[in-house]
Amino acid sequence: MQEPEFSNNAAAHQYELKLDGGVAGYAVYEEQSGRVRFTHTVVEPQHEGKGLGSKLAKQALDDVRQRGLKAVPQCRFIAAYIERHPEYSDLVAG
Ligand SMILES: CC(C)(COP(=O)(O)OP(=O)(O)OC[C@H]1O[C@@H](n2cnc3c(N)ncnc32)[C@H](O)[C@@H]1OP(=O)(O)O)[C@@H](O)C(=O)NCCC(=O)NCCS
Repeated sequence: MQEPEFSNNAAAHQYELKLDGGVAGYAVYEEQSGRVRFTHTVVEPQHEGKGLGSKLAKQALDDVRQRGLKAVPQCRFIAAYIERHPEYSDLVAG
């Protein structure tokens, strides 16, 4: 599979993965007071089950870390990703 292109679409409040120029998956967030609250994650049905959601979660959380912010994983997919990858648990706002 072609490598998806990750970006933070700040105007739309979402992290995105693009394939062939189209958005294949996105993670919607609200950013406030140094916290990025992940509210909803979607991978387009034709791309589901191929690891795109996990790539998106990883790159979004890496961006949160790199910017010195905290994460609030309200979205259950992001919460489950952090449970499976405890190296991100220190990012979760207390
Ligand atoms: C949830 C979703 C984003 C996953 O995307 P994906 O690209 O298929 O995810 P991956 O292929 O990276 O799967 C990674 C793991 O996430 C797990 N997972 C799938 N859906 C999940 C969910 N709703 N909650 C928690 N974990 C989930 C899978 O079990 C998978 O683990 P496995 O590989 O051991 O089976 C996608 O299925 C989707 O858009 N669903 C509809 C919207 C939705 O329910 N969003 C989540 C709540 S906000």
